[in-house]
Amino acid sequence: MSPGFIISALAAVLIACATSPARAEDTKEKAASVKEEDGKHFDAEGNPTFKIENGVVDWYTFSGYRRYHADCHVCHGPDGVGSSYAPALTTSMKNIDYGTFLSIVAEGRKRTSGGKESVMPAFGENKNVYCYLDDLYIYLRARAVEAAPRGRPPKKADKPEAATANEASCMGG
Ligand code: HEC
Repeated sequence: MSPGFIISALAAVLIACATSPARAEDTKEKAASVKEEDGKHFDAEGNPTFKIENGVVDWYTFSGYRRYHADCHVCHGPDGVGSSYAPALTTSMKNIDYGTFLSIVAEGRKRTSGGKESVMPAFGENKNVYCYLDDLYIYLRARAVEAAPRGRPPKKADKPEAATANEASCMGG
């Protein structure tokens, strides 16, 4: 079974869940890390989050920054600030929870308004994106709650062994 298929199946389940009422806006308080596992941080609800202390970002925030600027910024603008073509994720991500994020990025989205098509591509088959979905979520979450400033994070934590292992199995699978 390809990881792409697994992501699509996961997205289908998550889309079903996404019909529940929109969650309240994300904040720095809600996004606070309460648990760390192998260098990855989680909030009180168990969703992935960032940890930024004295200007040092966790590995996943840094990795998400890099992945975002490889595959998303052409449409969504540098640092998630948006463009005339695609929405500012620094705003959108305040109201997009983890499950919704995974499904939008895996499945894509298309909207037509006033005869103009607005297309978010599906990345469910793109390893450079789906192997790093958590990294992207964590980075964009940090941007949206204004915990991460614009630009390349100057200081980062070392890459955790778990990140190297996951990367090898996802990229190789
Ligand atoms: C080819 C241009 C393009 C690229 C590349 C792109 N997006 Fe999008 N994205 C869009 C457009 C356009 C929309 C708005 C779609 C709509 O109107 O429903 C969108 C919507 C989204 C949304 C929902 C925003 C909202 O306000 O509801 C998220 C989340 C998102 N994109 C994340 C990403 C991520 C993460 C990447 C990189 C892996 C990415 N996008 C790459 C064009 C793009």
